[in-house]
Amino acid sequence: MSDTQFDRKPNDKAKTGAPLLPCYDDLSASCAYGWSMLKRGVKDRKCAFHTPSIATISATGSPTIRTVVLRGCATEDKILRFHTDTRSGKIAELNDNPFAAMHFYDAGAKIQLRLAVRLEMLSGDAFDAAWEATRPMSRECYQVMQSPGSIIENPQHVQFDASASQDGKAHFVPVAAHVLQMEWLYLAARGHRRALFDFENDTQNWLVP
Ligand SMILES: Cc1cc2nc3c(=O)[nH]c(=O)nc-3n(C[C@H](O)[C@H](O)[C@H](O)COP(=O)(O)O)c2cc1C
Repeated sequence: MSDTQFDRKPNDKAKTGAPLLPCYDDLSASCAYGWSMLKRGVKDRKCAFHTPSIATISATGSPTIRTVVLRGCATEDKILRFHTDTRSGKIAELNDNPFAAMHFYDAGAKIQLRLAVRLEMLSGDAFDAAWEATRPMSRECYQVMQSPGSIIENPQHVQFDASASQDGKAHFVPVAAHVLQMEWLYLAARGHRRALFDFENDTQNWLVP
């Protein structure tokens, strides 16, 4: 059991835990704080928001989930970005159904974000900018010649070919996640705070935690 009991009843006398954030009882400020955590997640490799989970729907209708590295956050446009391999399962799934869910939890801050997103593979200038920004170590992942997830008899049979894969560029794709909704959950000893920000309908509401 974690030290943050989710089912704890609101208790004004509680004095334990981190000091309350100024956005505690402020809807708009909670939303802004969520976006600031996403922005920081791109730059700060040590923070929990750097590696969210993203869930898509498989051809059989069941959800699939995996970790990705958060590569971009355009707050004004409400777009996040991650990078992947064109041959990966998640790309096949987003081609069938571009709607996905992203999950972030920072245990230190005690803040969870659940995002409803629409995924879009980027091309043109956005592709070029993302590729140019990748480091040599990241490029290596995309130089693998067999499709990610394919069965091999021996792990040593994985083959990399920089020239055949154009340094990995042939298999690389940046993916934009257009954020449709953000659900905020802030665990606090004096009472949790939960809110839903709907960017499509431009609404924001507190929810029962
Ligand atoms: C810390 C961490 C970071 C990862 N980052 C990425 C990433 O940015 N892009 C990616 O495609 N896979 C990333 N992966 C691997 C995925 O979680 C997953 O195993 C892989 O992409 C295959 O997923 P799929 O078959 O569902 O497409 C990461 C895994 C971990 C543990």
